[in-house]
Amino acid sequence: MRSLAFALATTMFAACGGSSDPPGEVDDDFPLPLATGLSPTPPMGWNSWNKFACNINATFVKSIADAMVASGMKDAGYQYINIDDCWSVEGAARAADGSLQADAVRFPQGIAAVADYVHGLGLKLGIYGDRGAETCGHRAGSEGFEAQDAMTFASWGVDYVKWDNCASKPELIQQQYQLMRDELEASGRPMVFSVCAWSFYEWAIRAGHLQRTTTDIRDTWIAAAGSTDSGSIMTSLKTNRGFAAYGGPNHWNDPDMLEVGNSDNGIGPVTATEYQSHFSLWAITAAPLIAGNDLRSMTDTTKAILTNAEIIAINQDALGLQGVQLRDAEQSVWTKPLNENGARAVVLFNEGAVVADITVTFTDIGLAGGSAKVRDLQAHADLGTFRNSYTASVPSHATATLKVIGSEPPRPRGTAFLSELTPIYAANGLGPVERDLSNGGADPGDGVPIKIGGTTYAKGLGMSAPSAAIYRLGGKCTRFTASVGLDATSSGGAGTVRFQAFADGDMLFDSATMTGNASMSVDVSLVGKRRLKLLVTNAEDGSALDRASWGDAKVECEP
Ligand code: GLA
Repeated sequence: MRSLAFALATTMFAACGGSSDPPGEVDDDFPLPLATGLSPTPPMGWNSWNKFACNINATFVKSIADAMVASGMKDAGYQYINIDDCWSVEGAARAADGSLQADAVRFPQGIAAVADYVHGLGLKLGIYGDRGAETCGHRAGSEGFEAQDAMTFASWGVDYVKWDNCASKPELIQQQYQLMRDELEASGRPMVFSVCAWSFYEWAIRAGHLQRTTTDIRDTWIAAAGSTDSGSIMTSLKTNRGFAAYGGPNHWNDPDMLEVGNSDNGIGPVTATEYQSHFSLWAITAAPLIAGNDLRSMTDTTKAILTNAEIIAINQDALGLQGVQLRDAEQSVWTKPLNENGARAVVLFNEGAVVADITVTFTDIGLAGGSAKVRDLQAHADLGTFRNSYTASVPSHATATLKVIGSEPPRPRGTAFLSELTPIYAANGLGPVERDLSNGGADPGDGVPIKIGGTTYAKGLGMSAPSAAIYRLGGKCTRFTASVGLDATSSGGAGTVRFQAFADGDMLFDSATMTGNASMSVDVSLVGKRRLKLLVTNAEDGSALDRASWGDAKVECEP
């Protein structure tokens, strides 16, 4: 997947780089306030499944909670202690009154007692359930018992519910996740809802606070050759990246829980370098940080990776954007804007087998170009000030995790086509967001002239859903206009999409579902707004032909 890179490097604006706004004009785009809601930043915690599977009991869970505090994990921001499958009675049995019951041997005082203990440490408790007839570990599922089970969890003091997808009816998937969301809400106790449906669904961003986009992760860098199980750290990373445009506060894309530290205990052959990359890449992609290792016996290396405050800060950044990979390559640059003027998180990732130089060019990460300060978040060291780009030598499977602070691109002036501006963020379903062309394939500049309905546009943006682009306005623009629709040439009359425009979080425009050769005009006020976000979704169907164009997209601003 390519996103910003090529298109940005070739623009007039980037070419005159180094410039910020004229002296005297306040660069006031950031910081933004933290979103409201139960999960304004990606949830952080621990879950029993990845290392312990069904080998859990109350004493063990409490000892992990103790270790969360003693190890410094709590101070680093981890708060949820999540009990996964196998806490309840084996078989599908429920109590005489129909309620779920904890396994009396392993949880003799029940779940509420564990919740009390965990709360006493200043932590929160999570539990696991399933929308179908049985959990994956063959315990009672919640089909038909949603309201009762939500009330049970609330009465136990549960703070987080992971909802699995085993033994279930495919046709009820959306309905049952939405029902459980509603029943949790109706219980009156705030509970984070984790949708675990093993692949991305567009409705899930409105059902859960986080939605699993992948099959189960495994404690292996890549899937073993010949294995029927494709799960691995790299599989989860790569599957999750295509949904970047959908991630955000209270609806995080979840590439599954962390495996960091599990090989320290002899489970798998993943190296410390690879675990650092796993953590840095989960952090920059705004993934939930749910540790899955034994917190009671972490090596110093594992602890240092999991508690790195500077890397956690890029994950927890209040803008809540999911970092993107600029170009799908063995040596790649991942980036996301941070909630601070001119600040970008950057991960230089070498997936190759030998050490390699990797360069981040400042215009490629949505900066104005010119000078920027670079800090190494793994080494906790300022590296200096660099002009136009920074290059690191990155060992095999390693990352350089950086914070780059330069200048935001200049705000638009007069009548400005978006295709001539530098977006501060761009995520696109296929290749980069195209300028003055439709979205063709994965390469930059491989589209054709934009055509919507019967009209061809010389200017505009070509996207492929799911796609998002954010432009700074500096509070100096008055109006955004465009003509939108499926690209008549690139989509060939097929596809379904939905165009939306937001400014500072407010929705300004919503096309509803568009198909065929329909076109719509956008004409909205931007008065006082600081950022414009354009979003194109798949309108629920994920079609590969969702090539969506914004013809003549332009803003009118103060000179
Ligand atoms: C599924 C989920 C896992 C875990 C197990 C428990 O496989 O995807 O994360 O919860 O079930 O059985």
